[in-house]
Amino acid sequence: MSILFTNIAELRTIDAEDTVLRDAALVVEGERIAWIGRASEAPAADTLVDVGGRAVLPGWVDSHSHLVFAGDRSAEFEARMAGQKYAAGGIRVTTEATHAVGDYDLTRLLLGRRAEAAAGGTTSLETKTGYGLDVEEEARHARLASTIADTVTFLGAHVVPAGTDADEYTRLVTGPMLDAVRPYVEWIDVFCETGAFNAEQSRAVLEAGKAAGLGLRVHGNQLGEGPGTQLAVELGAASVDHVNHLSAADVRALADSWSGFSLTDPSSPRGTVATCLPACDLSTREPLAPARELLDAGVVVAIASNCNPGSSFTSSVTYCVTTAVLQMKLTVAEALRAATHSGAIALGLEQETGSLEVGKYVDLHILNAPSAVHIAYRPGMPLTHQTWKRGQLVHGAR
Ligand code: NIG
Repeated sequence: MSILFTNIAELRTIDAEDTVLRDAALVVEGERIAWIGRASEAPAADTLVDVGGRAVLPGWVDSHSHLVFAGDRSAEFEARMAGQKYAAGGIRVTTEATHAVGDYDLTRLLLGRRAEAAAGGTTSLETKTGYGLDVEEEARHARLASTIADTVTFLGAHVVPAGTDADEYTRLVTGPMLDAVRPYVEWIDVFCETGAFNAEQSRAVLEAGKAAGLGLRVHGNQLGEGPGTQLAVELGAASVDHVNHLSAADVRALADSWSGFSLTDPSSPRGTVATCLPACDLSTREPLAPARELLDAGVVVAIASNCNPGSSFTSSVTYCVTTAVLQMKLTVAEALRAATHSGAIALGLEQETGSLEVGKYVDLHILNAPSAVHIAYRPGMPLTHQTWKRGQLVHGAR
């Protein structure tokens, strides 16, 4: 069935030229975009959606979240706001709480979180394991995650369980745990940080994942300078996430990884995306990741929610985009791209989503505003009117 979306005040395509069309229309056939242009020139379709003079942009591509969890850590957050430092140890609190919850209740939590994300305009979602920390639990979390997310990352190397030797645990992650999660995941990740996994252990995790055919991602340079970013670049990771504490050499390594890349050439080589997580930076009182400096150096920067119970309990990418503009000094166009097309690059999904172009998925975020500028201009306002994923309305009324 074809649908004509018309009366679009502003259509932000996020294509290679960042084309913005006014008074636009969009025709879709099933789950794919078939035509984009001026409303007055639109071809007929089976049915019509009058967008009512609103702005349309691609749905958010949230390339970093940890949605498989139970329990509440608001007391930890409150203590942090009173001056306590964020530490990776809180992960174990969530591990215990999640262990106690069965599949049915965990699935309900996951469905609720996916619905919340859709209500904020998210159409593609990555999520991770990492609160299981034993073979059976990690496999269960991977299986449940695969029922709600577009792509799943194995993060068995999130933190070393209490009372376990780090090298021994790394061997478990790279052996039996990896085998158990493999049917459900596309990516492997490691928290390369003091207090979590060192460079050698992180390398072992990433190399085992690569040998198993997984793409690589790294949690790096979140709480201090360290080897995460350069290891990610060296091993060809699709992204390094957090990147709050970067040295000049880290920025250079990221920038060098993008030499030869061209937005207009889909076959040009991809480097390592620097994924900034502004909601997490604020919620942990870490310095905001240097997104401006990274963009200026030529790095592809993504923005994601990092929704998790410890360091960033929000799936609102809109909030992250607002913060990127108001506090990280990105232009509106740069922040929109970071949360759509660049997030899609970080997930290897950019041929399918992240921009509005003929042939791509009908993943739409329709705003209660005439322009996407309102996302930063009207911070905190409920601007999502409708969310369409693969041609289906997943949030909002018709
Ligand atoms: O991305 N950095 C490691 N993992 C999560 C936080 C997990 C937690 O505190 O529960 C993050 O911030």
